[in-house]
Amino acid sequence: AYVITSPCIGVKDASCVEECPVDCIHEGEDQYYIDPDTCIDCGACEPVCPVEAIFAEEFVPEEEQEFIQKNADFFK
Ligand code: SF4
Ligand code: F3S
Repeated sequence: AYVITSPCIGVKDASCVEECPVDCIHEGEDQYYIDPDTCIDCGACEPVCPVEAIFAEEFVPEEEQEFIQKNADFFK
């Protein structure tokens, strides 16, 4: 799944939401989150984020690894 990381916090541009064909990007208090169980890995959201907060799970930077779990936890 794709993952939204810390640059989204306080920015919440939301351009990614319109791109998602399965509507799996949801608004949280501080940032948006991607539901890993619904994401189909299409990649459409990644290039539209102005702060480059979105990564495929395998390319999440070392210092942003905790966001993989944070995205998943939001949908529990
Ligand atoms: Fe939605 Fe595709 Fe982004 Fe997954 S990769 S969140 S399916 S736009
Ligand atoms: Fe956040 Fe970027 Fe989407 S700032 S809401 S991940 S377009």
